[in-house]
Amino acid sequence: MLRIVRGKKIENGGLDLRELASGYSSVIVDLGTGDGRFVYKMAREQPRNLFIGIDAAAENMMEYSSRAVKKPPKGGASNAVYISAGAEDLPAEMSGLADKIYVILPWGSLLEGIVKGSGEILGGIAGAARPGAALELFFTYSHLHEEGEIGRRELPALSLEYIENTMTLLYREKGILLGEKEIITNEELRRYETHWARKLGFGKNRTVFHVKGIIEGL
Ligand SMILES: C[S@@+](CC[C@H](N)C(=O)[O-])C[C@H]1O[C@@H](n2cnc3c(N)ncnc32)[C@H](O)[C@@H]1O
Repeated sequence: MLRIVRGKKIENGGLDLRELASGYSSVIVDLGTGDGRFVYKMAREQPRNLFIGIDAAAENMMEYSSRAVKKPPKGGASNAVYISAGAEDLPAEMSGLADKIYVILPWGSLLEGIVKGSGEILGGIAGAARPGAALELFFTYSHLHEEGEIGRRELPALSLEYIENTMTLLYREKGILLGEKEIITNEELRRYETHWARKLGFGKNRTVFHVKGIIEGL
């Protein structure tokens, strides 16, 4: 069942996502949206597209959801929707809906699934996408800042070679073709209007990987 974050409340069901989506040119999903700032900003800028922010932590989305539910002149964005769900357990209503999926600076199980190409996370991504949808990933960690998490989750050492040689193959098995991959600067990162892109982007220099792909489906 859909768990919609509407303002400070969580509503179970009560929204026909597919019908809502049919009124827009494209559906753009931000998986692991955090506070949902990105979804809100993009929704305000692109009123013809529907933006769906999804995160396991519902409370974090309440501030931007509260802004989104206002009337447009007061800063509202009826094309911004927030859903509380784990990426490994997306609601059936999301099936085949997305034209584009972003995963921006994930942590926890989402980060682990993205870098290890786990079936649960990639299956969730592929399931939520329409065939031919775009995928865009940003991720970073290092022994300097995330030693504990790297050890706990047995995260691999990141490099463009790791993405090219290992992730690309794992993703291909799930019907996702990874293409462009690059390391971006802090300055480039903070152009993305998410809470963490700005926080990390204005902090110490980090190696942030930016990967684009196409979700073809199996
Ligand atoms: C560092 S924050 C980034 C948030 C946002 N994308 C940004 O750039 O500001 C990572 C987010 O991933 C979410 N997350 C971690 N594992 C998840 C999972 N399995 N499914 C959905 N969200 C998850 C966390 O709740 C958290 O909000």
